[in-house]
Amino acid sequence: MTVERTEAASPVRRDLPALCAEGLRRRFSMAGEEIEVLRGATLRADAGEIVTVTGRSGSGKTTLLTVLAGFDIPDEGTVTFHGRPAPGAPWWVCALLPQALGLVEELTCAENVALPLRLRPGVTDTVEATVVAALDEVGMAELADRYPAELSFGQQQRVALARAVVSRPSVLLVDEPTAHLDSASTDAVLALLRRMADEGAAVVAVTHDPAVREVADRRLRLDGGVLVAE
Ligand SMILES: Nc1ncnc2c1ncn2[C@@H]1O[C@H](COP(=O)(O)OP(=O)(O)OP(=O)(O)O)[C@@H](O)[C@H]1O
Ligand SMILES: [Mg+2]
Repeated sequence: MTVERTEAASPVRRDLPALCAEGLRRRFSMAGEEIEVLRGATLRADAGEIVTVTGRSGSGKTTLLTVLAGFDIPDEGTVTFHGRPAPGAPWWVCALLPQALGLVEELTCAENVALPLRLRPGVTDTVEATVVAALDEVGMAELADRYPAELSFGQQQRVALARAVVSRPSVLLVDEPTAHLDSASTDAVLALLRRMADEGAAVVAVTHDPAVREVADRRLRLDGGVLVAE
């Protein structure tokens, strides 16, 4: 219902950036002390480009991606996808590979990857083939029937990436997508990110990995709660 309201309320504006975040502020209170992690972060990502975000551990990269995805509401600032508000945007508009993965333990890899398709109205016939194709893109098709607990963390990460790309979102947000991978798997993931961008997605990748930065069209650093060009 939320999805239908969002889509009806604000039409897609292809003339506006795929992702536009302005003046993001996010504060957390811990043990009576308040920390401001985002202090006016502003970011734009256009269809077809890969933007990387680096920054020291604890600088707020995951916080930023969570806010960009619309899963967390900033204290100040706005996020839009082609002019539509981020909160409530469906998974096929913006999808996230979370740092903590968030796979459903009770479901197989294939069932996890199928979730975004099952939630999309009108998509029924082709779900199985689309899921296999997405798992194949990350080299996980052979383990489609396994449960997450039966996989290494790097394998689980690739399944979570397949879940993020399976519905070909306009905005793809990935948090440390190669953190647990060997070089062959890293190459496959980088090729997939490039393919997504070439197909028209705006890709934002949080990373410490020089290999990811190398494929970026633009590189940003989160420093003191704001984004600066590297
Ligand atoms: N829900 C929360 N409540 C309180 N503090 C939080 C919360 N989420 C994040 N923080 C704090 O915000 C800061 C930034 O955390 P975040 O996870 O965004 O960093 P990061 O840059 O992604 O780090 P890493 O590179 O280690 O993944 C940290 O100090 C963290 O403790
Ligand atoms: Mg993080």
